[in-house]
Amino acid sequence: MKVLVIGSGGREHALCWAIAKSPECDELYCAPGNAGIDQVAVSVPIAAEDLDGILGFVADNGVDFVVVGPEGPLVAGLVDRLEAAGIKAFGPSALAAEYEGSKGLTKDLCAKYLIPTAEYARFNEPDAAKEYIRIHGAPIVVKADGLAAGKGVILCRNVNEAYAAIDHIMTESAFGDAGAEVVIEEMMAGEEASFFALVDGKVALPLVTAQDHKAVFDGDEGPNTGGMGAYSPAPVVTPEMEARIMDEIITPTIRGAAADGRPYKGVLYAGLMITEAGPKLIEYNVRFGDPECQALMMRLKSDALDMLLACAEGRLDKYKIEWHDEAALCVVMAAEGYPGAYEKGTEIKGLDKAGEVKDVMVFHAGTMEDEGRILANGGRVLNVTALGKTVKAAQKRAYEAVARIDWPEGFCRSDIGWRAIKR
Ligand code: AMP
Ligand code: GLY
Repeated sequence: MKVLVIGSGGREHALCWAIAKSPECDELYCAPGNAGIDQVAVSVPIAAEDLDGILGFVADNGVDFVVVGPEGPLVAGLVDRLEAAGIKAFGPSALAAEYEGSKGLTKDLCAKYLIPTAEYARFNEPDAAKEYIRIHGAPIVVKADGLAAGKGVILCRNVNEAYAAIDHIMTESAFGDAGAEVVIEEMMAGEEASFFALVDGKVALPLVTAQDHKAVFDGDEGPNTGGMGAYSPAPVVTPEMEARIMDEIITPTIRGAAADGRPYKGVLYAGLMITEAGPKLIEYNVRFGDPECQALMMRLKSDALDMLLACAEGRLDKYKIEWHDEAALCVVMAAEGYPGAYEKGTEIKGLDKAGEVKDVMVFHAGTMEDEGRILANGGRVLNVTALGKTVKAAQKRAYEAVARIDWPEGFCRSDIGWRAIKR
């Protein structure tokens, strides 16, 4: 079978690495890919958002199955167009991808189907938004409704910060059209978890649990990023908690989405707050988490290609996913300055030596190759991912590999996995 993966991050490197192991995978392409993906797939220079380019490549090369990594092309309708052309694809339709594309749409779904989440209101007019803030007080959370590359959420400690957030998002249009509407939410307290379920339209199959580290610095200090590290399993999601998440959040979502004419297919990623009152939904993403996917793919024992195909073909009712018992932990190495401004083009050495550490994979995110040298080409650059008997053992291996990487212009958090290890 000929497979095309869409995307260029560590998530897509991990997906390509896992898919390439399948005996059913004859040819593997990735658009646009990166220097690490080149080791397991053929990178093709087509942007993830170039839907016409992707459709053309698929037709010209007889691609049988397309796995879409990032949300952008999903929201833009890539899966709809592929399916209309008779090509199998992993990922939701544009209508279902709107659950990530519009935070307000997801909140309305929660309200309609009694799915636990933070109390909220939607506004498309700044004065009304500020009036709501004045009445409700702080702390309070202000969110741009649309896609803002993970930056559209502002946690406000006092009302002045919240008013400023409204100005920033609505009046100054910091996120363009994505901020034409805002969602204002109650601030929830608890521990976060990333929960993934494969959904084939009817059946939802939970994957193993994971936790991300959004803040840039140790101890969860500093601004939020796309994710500085992840591990699996996440002990905060006990088997009882998982059952509640499925019953109270995932199952009513799948039913409600179908009833509302947006049947879901693909991986549904629930960002959760585990509160004293139980699990509450923060938001939905319509794709794998990055870097959570890197940890999940290291733990996956089943054939990844067959698993993703089973989801796309609606065969999950008979499917059982097998996992390795070991824990996995992923440390993100980023360019100095990220998530603010950072330099590109700095050289990274020692990747071979890092990859020699037992049970370690160095997935590439923002990298490029230049005459045999590997150069940084983005904010999040490398994802050093290890397996171990426990989260602590995986952490030790991952940092052993990190120490072998010679990249003076890069940095990473030194405490990935701390919540699991502290328990
Ligand atoms: P999101 O992009 O919606 O996942 O939000 C980014 C981060 O903001 C989340 O991972 C949480 O840490 C935080 N956050 C978002 N909404 C809330 C909320 N209602 N209460 C507390 N924290 C939140
Ligand atoms: N790791 C967070 C995300 O993928 O959105």
